[in-house]
Amino acid sequence: MTISSQVNPIIWQDDLVYLVDQTLLPNQFTLKPIKSASEMAQAIKTMVVRGAPAIGVSAAYGIYLGARDIAIENRELFLQELGSIAEMLGETRPTAVNLFWAIERVMKVANETAGDVETIKRRLLQEAQTIHQEDLETCLAIGKEGLAILPQTKKKLTILTHCNAGALATAGYGTALGVIRAAWSAGRLDRVIADETRPRLQGAKLTTWECAQEGIPVTLISDNMSAHCMKLGMIDAVVVGADRIAANGDTANKIGTYGLAVISKMHNVPFYVAAPLSTIDFSLATGEQIPIEQRHSSEISHVGETLICPSTGVDFYNPAFDVTSCELITAIITEKGSFKPSELLTLRR
Ligand code: MRU
Repeated sequence: MTISSQVNPIIWQDDLVYLVDQTLLPNQFTLKPIKSASEMAQAIKTMVVRGAPAIGVSAAYGIYLGARDIAIENRELFLQELGSIAEMLGETRPTAVNLFWAIERVMKVANETAGDVETIKRRLLQEAQTIHQEDLETCLAIGKEGLAILPQTKKKLTILTHCNAGALATAGYGTALGVIRAAWSAGRLDRVIADETRPRLQGAKLTTWECAQEGIPVTLISDNMSAHCMKLGMIDAVVVGADRIAANGDTANKIGTYGLAVISKMHNVPFYVAAPLSTIDFSLATGEQIPIEQRHSSEISHVGETLICPSTGVDFYNPAFDVTSCELITAIITEKGSFKPSELLTLRR
């Protein structure tokens, strides 16, 4: 069985991070060198790297790059300076909790490592590499768990996914696309239906590209076609990723996910969220408390370089994420098994 994807969006080499520039795909495959914490913050903000787990891994490396560049030997002053770098990275994107989870984890290591500044710097690199490696293993486990919970039918499955929760959005392999990859490897997948995912088109640009790289059959549809496809019985299951899951199971994911969950319920199509445990934010009781990133109006006023509405007299609203209510979610697939949203609190205990 093939277990790895061919895409590594984050590469640590020669004391630098290289990111696959996701703003250029599918037309150009370019590795962008990231040399400092501020370059990493910029890369996260401008979505050179995107997807909750990939943002977390990148931020962890960002902290190391920042630490490496601090020319202070006094431990307290060094940690103070590192705190400002962590703050800068934390201000890049507000919704994906993996960003804050990773920053907290590496900062804990920094604060708890005994010894001089050089020792702390070495530990920070190790921790970033551990987070990187763990994420890949987590995605493989999510794929396996997802395969076990997908509908058991004689015919091969057609699975719809939204946005890109694939190798590009993680350390490799993916969460939602990890489940899809596992189903493909096991001979249980007929095809993927990929929503284009307006406004940034991650489905059209990234998910179809990943599938095509590996010969996974994929059909691209525009976002407004999924209800029609469900009505025609074309979809056996929906699998999406998550940016943050509240303690009750309410799930923030790419804008449009909530609508998909509503129509899935209407058509009796199981709706799965695939995400690592690090995406669950137990500090938030419900999804209402999840901060939703608002992005620039040009993402909806334009397609590529082309203005698609009058240049004056129009207002814009561009939330990057929405929250799917827990009662619409069939199961949350994690690396430690699949759970009903109502079981999350038990899982925490
Ligand atoms: O704005 P993006 O492209 O970072 O949004 C990505 C998503 O919404 C993904 O579904 C989510 O981060 C999970 S990625 C495994």
